[in-house]
Amino acid sequence: MSFTIEFQPLGIRLVCGEPFTLLEAARQAGISLRSDCGGAGICGKCAVQIFSTPNKYPPTDTEKTFFTETQLADGLRLACETIVENDLKVQVPSGSVIEGQVLQVEGSQDSIQPDPLIFQKMVRLDEANLNNLASDFTRLQQASEIKSLTANLEVLRRIPDLLRKNNWQANLIIREKELVNLTGQSLLKLLGLAVDVGSTKLACYLMNLETGEVLATKGVPNPQIAYGEDIMARLAFAIKGKDEANTLHSLLMQSINQAAAELCAQIGLSSAEITDACLVGNTAMHHFFLNLPAESLAFSPFVPAVSNSLNPLSSEIGLDAMPGSHVYAPAVIAGFVGSDHLAFLLAEGFSENNRVCLGIDIGTNTEIALQNGSRLVSVSTASGPAFEGAHIRFGMRAAPGAIEHVSIDQQGKAQIQVIGGQSPTGICGSGILDAVSEMRRLGILNHRGRMDKSAPGIRLDDQGKPYFILAESDRQITLSQNDIDQILLAKGAIRAGIDVLMDYLKVKPEEIQEVLIAGAFGSYMRPEHAMRIGMLPEIPLGRVRAVGNAAGAGARMMLISKTIREKAEKLAKRVEYLELTVYPEFSMFYARGIQA
Ligand code: FES
Repeated sequence: MSFTIEFQPLGIRLVCGEPFTLLEAARQAGISLRSDCGGAGICGKCAVQIFSTPNKYPPTDTEKTFFTETQLADGLRLACETIVENDLKVQVPSGSVIEGQVLQVEGSQDSIQPDPLIFQKMVRLDEANLNNLASDFTRLQQASEIKSLTANLEVLRRIPDLLRKNNWQANLIIREKELVNLTGQSLLKLLGLAVDVGSTKLACYLMNLETGEVLATKGVPNPQIAYGEDIMARLAFAIKGKDEANTLHSLLMQSINQAAAELCAQIGLSSAEITDACLVGNTAMHHFFLNLPAESLAFSPFVPAVSNSLNPLSSEIGLDAMPGSHVYAPAVIAGFVGSDHLAFLLAEGFSENNRVCLGIDIGTNTEIALQNGSRLVSVSTASGPAFEGAHIRFGMRAAPGAIEHVSIDQQGKAQIQVIGGQSPTGICGSGILDAVSEMRRLGILNHRGRMDKSAPGIRLDDQGKPYFILAESDRQITLSQNDIDQILLAKGAIRAGIDVLMDYLKVKPEEIQEVLIAGAFGSYMRPEHAMRIGMLPEIPLGRVRAVGNAAGAGARMMLISKTIREKAEKLAKRVEYLELTVYPEFSMFYARGIQA
C-alpha cells in the first residue's frame, strides 16, 4: 500500500511504498534537511512539525530531551526518530534546511522623498512647582507645540514617572497629532516595518522612516500553508470556529514577529523600536492579519468585512512593535483583490498616467488590472497553486533543486536548468511553463493539450498512459498528462481574466503599451513561452517587463510617506472591480484559454 508524505512549505510530495523515517523520506525527496549527527538522534537539527495527527506519533525519549511539552503537543518531532507508514503532512522549519526556498523580496521602487507620519522631538519641561500647576501632559503638549496633541491612557500613565526620573526631559514619538510613546533618549533610527503578506510567502522590510533606507529584508514562508495551499481552503478552516480563526491569525503574526525581530537584531535594535508599520495582502490575508471575521469571504458573493483603510494599534493585531504604535492596513479593492494589488498599482505608477497598461500579479489567486485612459479595472482569477508546484507530480516551489527552465530538442530530449546548479529534485512553475511551451512547439502536445503517444520523448506507463521525461539523474522527474492539464487550467484562468478585461475596456492586444508582471514566478518565467501557450496575448516582447515584488515596493512607499498613503486612498476609489464569474463571455474566454 502506498502513502504520500507532503513536505511544506516546499510543496514537495513523496509517494512511498514502505515505512521509513522522515529523515530518509526527506533525503529521497531531495530536501536538504539538516542532520548533523547523521540521524543518530544526537544533534536535534532535523526538527520537523507534524500536522493534523501528531498524536499518532508519540514522542520518543530522545525527542522529549529536545522539545518542551508544548512543542511536542504542537507536533514537533525529530525526522530521524519518526517512522512513517501513512499519509502525512509535515512542515519543515526554515532552520532545519540547509538551503531555503527562494522567496523574492526584491522589487522596483521609485525613489520617493520620505514623508513619514512619525517624527520624534526632544523636549525639556520646567519642573512642576507651586507657581506652575499645569498637569504633566498639558506641559508636554505646550512643549511639543502641538496644542491638540493626544495620547492614549497607557502613554499617559507613563509620563509622570519618566519625566521625574529623566530630569524633566523626554523624547516624544509623535504620529501626526498623537503622542505614540515617549523615551528618555532620542532614538537612533525611527524604524518602520513593511510586510507583503502573500498566501505563500511573507516579504518583510525594515526601513528607516526618516531616510527611506531599507535596512534589512527577509522572506519567510507563510506558515498557514499547512492549512491549505489556496486561500479558499484556509477560509474553510477559519470559519470552523473562533479557535481556528485565531490559529491562522496567530501563526501569521508569529512569523511576522519572528522575521521582524531578526531584522531588528541585524542592526542591533529590537522590535520594540518599530514605530510604524504597513501590512498589505490579498483580501483573505488582510482579514487574517487583522483577525477580522472571514465568513463573508468564504461564500458567494465574497464580500469583505471591511474594505477601507485601517490604522489599528499594533497591539490590537499582535504585532510586536513600540507600545502605542499603529499599523497601516491600506484599503482592499473588492472580492479577493486586496491591498497588495493596490500596492502593486501604486508602485508601478498606475495612478500617475493614462497609458494602456496591463498589470498581472501571478499567484494562487492572480490579480489582473487593465488601464485604458482614465479607466482602471481589476479582476481576480483563481489560477490555483499549480505554478507554485502544487498538484503537479514532481512540482515544487522555486528552491534549490527545482528545474527552472527547460528546452527540448527534436529528439525529445530535455535540457534543464536547475536552481542552485545541483541535481534536480522537482520542477517549479517557470520550468513547467517552458516544458509545456516546448512540447507544444514540437507537436508533442496538440492544441487541446493532449500528449501524442508516438512523439519523441514520450513514454507509456504500465497502464499505457503517456508521460514525458524531464530528467533522469538521482531522481526521475517526469510530466504526466494530469500535470499538463493542471497547468493549462491555471494559465487558462489567467488568460480568461485578461481577455475579459480587454473585452470590457475594448482594448486590442496591439494597443497594450506595457505588460507588467509581478511576483517571483513572473521574474523567472519567459514571456515568449507564456505567449506561445496562450497565457499572454501576442504583444511585442519588449513591452513585457517583470517587476518583482511590486506589492512589497508599494507597501514600503506607503510606510514612509503620508503623501503616498493619500494617493493610495484615492487610487483605491478609482479602481473598478469586475466580477469575472458574472461576466457574460467569461465561460467562453475560459474554454478558449485552457487550450494549449
Ligand atoms: S539528525 Fe541529528 S537528531 Fe536527527
